[in-house]
Amino acid sequence: MGEIPIKKETLVNHQPTVRPEPGNDPLVEPIHRSVKYTYPTVAEMDQLFSGEKAGYFYSRYANPTVRQLELLLAKLQDREDALATSSGVTAITNCLLSLLKQGDHVVLFLESYRPTRYIVRNLLSKFGVTHSLISIKDHEGIAREFERENTRLVLFESPTNPMTWIADFDFIIGQAKANGVLTLLDGTFAGLHNYGSYAFDLYIHSLTKYASGHGDVLGGAIIGSEEQISAIRPDYANTGAAIAPDSAYLILRGLKTYFLRFREQCENARQIALYLENHQRVKRVYYPGLPSHPDHELAKKQMCDFGGIVAFHLDGTEAQMHEFIESLRLFILAASLGSTESLVTPAKLFFATDLTAEEQKRGEIEDATVRLSLGIEDAEDLIADLDQALGKVFG
Ligand SMILES: Cc1ncc(COP(=O)(O)O)c(C=O)c1O
Repeated sequence: MGEIPIKKETLVNHQPTVRPEPGNDPLVEPIHRSVKYTYPTVAEMDQLFSGEKAGYFYSRYANPTVRQLELLLAKLQDREDALATSSGVTAITNCLLSLLKQGDHVVLFLESYRPTRYIVRNLLSKFGVTHSLISIKDHEGIAREFERENTRLVLFESPTNPMTWIADFDFIIGQAKANGVLTLLDGTFAGLHNYGSYAFDLYIHSLTKYASGHGDVLGGAIIGSEEQISAIRPDYANTGAAIAPDSAYLILRGLKTYFLRFREQCENARQIALYLENHQRVKRVYYPGLPSHPDHELAKKQMCDFGGIVAFHLDGTEAQMHEFIESLRLFILAASLGSTESLVTPAKLFFATDLTAEEQKRGEIEDATVRLSLGIEDAEDLIADLDQALGKVFG
């Protein structure tokens, strides 16, 4: 506080500031935890408010650590700008709230993340937004739904959860552009490095998964052109969707090893898929990297790798599937995906209880379907674990 004499009670609230001299920068950027930013004059504060001058004001609107993450995310997805949100579902909710109005129609898919269906079916329906729920493989249905006068946007994933179907981008984007429908891709399963060359209007990601990679932080992103992101930003700021700077920092740190982890996870998934495909008590394996996957050619065309998720049907009952999961020692029974450790989930229970039996059947989710999310452990250890658990259940 300069020359003014102050008491210690005042001092602890006006602490000394220590900043490195220019040219003596920290290699790792500091975490900017401050919620508030200061101005030397009221005129400069006013310039910031009117957009005449760049700067920070309040961290719900923007924050340097969060901005660092946003700039990196935009580059990874080959787009101009991004908004980092407190979770993946915040990104979905914020994007939909910002883009939709009463009377608009949304096209959704049976093969999608369950909370995405919840947001549209349970929440947005209260505000007069309608939707159709069809299969990602139903091209006739997609063309029909896009032609509706009030269809505003389509939101989809690829590979889909949990069965790893691949959406046909040329078809969906082509039909959407012809009908003035916005395309929103949730690219969580494929990661931030895939799909940048496709003309999607907006990308959504859960950064909780591959981006952060260690299962210790929630985060999400909306990525697109400068124009699209600027249009959403006021809604993002005024609804409190921002990610906390500490979380943004953990994701920035996680991203340093993103490519190493993703490559290893893909390779583990490939080896595990091959092992399962050759096991006599496995009825069918779903991994886009397997030539036997119905969408393998499409995946090869659209992706630069095939992801870390493998689904399969055990040739057994639901009870045997539970016993199998409980017999695994390295694969952990837990939600989520994309962490360094391998996870296992019973597909129907985790992902499809809001779907009718008929819808589950169309999505090829059976009673004994299992989803694996591969980590970065040694592939031989993972195969040995699957082998001992299968042996225990089926002898
Ligand atoms: C495809 C997909 N999108 C979005 C989300 C939501 O992410 P978050 O848990 O960060 O809210 C998930 C989470 O599993 C997901 O799998």
